[in-house]
Amino acid sequence: MSIMENDATLSLLAFDERSSKGCRTLRDLESGQVGLFQHDFIKIINSTAFGRLVDKTQIFVTSSRRKSTVRNRMQHTMTVVANTIYTAKRLGLNVELAAAIAIGHDIAHTVYGHLGENVVTMCTGVKFCHNIYGSILAQYFEPLNLSYETLSGIYAHSFKDVLAMPNDITPEGILVMYMDVIDWMAHDPDSLIEFRVADLKWFPNVFRINEWSAKDRTSHWTEELIRESLEKGRVSFLDCPEAKEFWSAKTLIYSDVYKKLDHRLHKQALIDIFEFLQKRLVGKDPVIAFDMMTDSEAMDLEQRMRNSYGKDIDLSEYSFTRLLPDLPDGQENWIDFRDPDLGWGDVPENARY
Ligand SMILES: [Fe+2]
Repeated sequence: MSIMENDATLSLLAFDERSSKGCRTLRDLESGQVGLFQHDFIKIINSTAFGRLVDKTQIFVTSSRRKSTVRNRMQHTMTVVANTIYTAKRLGLNVELAAAIAIGHDIAHTVYGHLGENVVTMCTGVKFCHNIYGSILAQYFEPLNLSYETLSGIYAHSFKDVLAMPNDITPEGILVMYMDVIDWMAHDPDSLIEFRVADLKWFPNVFRINEWSAKDRTSHWTEELIRESLEKGRVSFLDCPEAKEFWSAKTLIYSDVYKKLDHRLHKQALIDIFEFLQKRLVGKDPVIAFDMMTDSEAMDLEQRMRNSYGKDIDLSEYSFTRLLPDLPDGQENWIDFRDPDLGWGDVPENARY
């Protein structure tokens, strides 16, 4: 008996599409030819926000180094999708739902990665999180009318504590949370070493830096997640010795590796850009602009601001400015960036598709 057949007999409880809370507004599922979650996947992969991930930071700013080799947010997303599909199949979960959450999980990531999020938080005084904004973006600014389960999975993917996730989070949502961390934990060390910003000695043994590729690390941790999940009967990667080692290594690389990286120049550039957008964008929200901007656009803007103090810059030349909705009646602070606005999922009459 193959491993795949063996796992199938022990599969977890997959989320059943027929139990979905549906979409915010009625959706035409094209005569039932495409399932609800497959439709979510297709909408996300065709969206403008998704396409821009190819020029957004995963770990290094995409245009500042050898662009062909530095990993971008799109590559990260696609490996998360592939590994999520594989793992969901092994666990007997709903593969279409897991894939839809995985493809959308970082759809609203800011320019320059987490540094961009920190700058928005600093400049606005309101904590900005890409997972919450992902749910807002997909409902309002590029309305994709996704299912509740896909949106709640996007929202919850950054919660590293399963108990802190919404009560109705699906097992597929929990799986994407784990596969996301496994992916960057597997790949980041290689990028940091390749670009000589980290030393081999900084990484604990769990990474097997000289022996394993990123794919080896992903496979190792994924197999352990599958083993623990099948033993417990729910998606889990917390208690087996490999999981404990994994989470303590994650804490360690935050304190011993990421904190040593010098982001000062990029941070100051982003603050200048944000303040410039606040001044120059009339009737538009600078936060949405900042989130839609790609790394190349930010680099170009920074350069031109430095050369001319911004005098000759026509913002309409930048494609991100053409994607922005108008502020309603000139109101500022019209969006609560702390609220994923998923309350409609609890109202049965809205649950339709
Ligand atoms: Fe991610």
